[in-house]
Amino acid sequence: MRLDIISIFPEYFAPLGVSLIGKARERGTLDVRVHQLREWAHDVHRTVDDTPYGGGPGMVMKPEVWGEAIDEVTGDGAPRLIVPTPSGRPFTQELAQELAEEPWLLFACGRYEGIDSRVMTEYRARLRVDEVSIGDYVLAGGEVAVLVMVEAIGRLLPGVLGNACSVADDSFAPGAMRNLVEGPVFTKPPLWRGHEVPPVLLSGHHGKVARWRRDEALRRTVANRPELASALDPGSLDKHDRRLLEELSFRVGPEHMAD
Ligand code: ADE
Repeated sequence: MRLDIISIFPEYFAPLGVSLIGKARERGTLDVRVHQLREWAHDVHRTVDDTPYGGGPGMVMKPEVWGEAIDEVTGDGAPRLIVPTPSGRPFTQELAQELAEEPWLLFACGRYEGIDSRVMTEYRARLRVDEVSIGDYVLAGGEVAVLVMVEAIGRLLPGVLGNACSVADDSFAPGAMRNLVEGPVFTKPPLWRGHEVPPVLLSGHHGKVARWRRDEALRRTVANRPELASALDPGSLDKHDRRLLEELSFRVGPEHMAD
């Protein structure tokens, strides 16, 4: 997969040389190219922003600079253009999976109040353009959001994770545990500072371990993500799940959290 990133702070992307993503780049699974937006600014100060029409605080990134940058980086090709912004569609595991299937992504990192909206309008005629938010909070710019997205997407590429099964086990991954967050995990030693590893995990009984893990996933989902637990498809719950949810005084379906 080819990934282009345009930003006024290319230094932000040093972590993409490390760990899983760094190794994927060395192996050639990922071809990451980071570009300095100011290279496409022509005045002496290499200006990339200006005051907003209509007034208001902050600055807006200039369309001409972005247009030249995107034209040159894309050439005759057609990457999918991702623009991180708090006003975008939510970045989810499902979107990460969809983007992991693309051959080429181009991330355009805005700073200040964002990029002149005509840039997105212009490229929508030619490319698939998604404005994407990584969460309901405001960052100072899109760079950190791109790091988050590249890591989430990159680890889904074939051969990037050592153990192919770990992707299937993820919270939010499709499958039986879909829409449940993962439960707690343990390693050796079996007793640490008086805290035991749950004995079922040492039992070697795969069926019981799977059941325990599902129970813990349900408990955590109810405790930490009640909105996800409410949205569980009742058809995906077995008798044991229903009994556990009852024990937790939790009813599946809209607006129930029994007290
Ligand atoms: N840029 C600033 N805040 C952001 C957010 N929450 N998600 C994506 N990009 C952003």
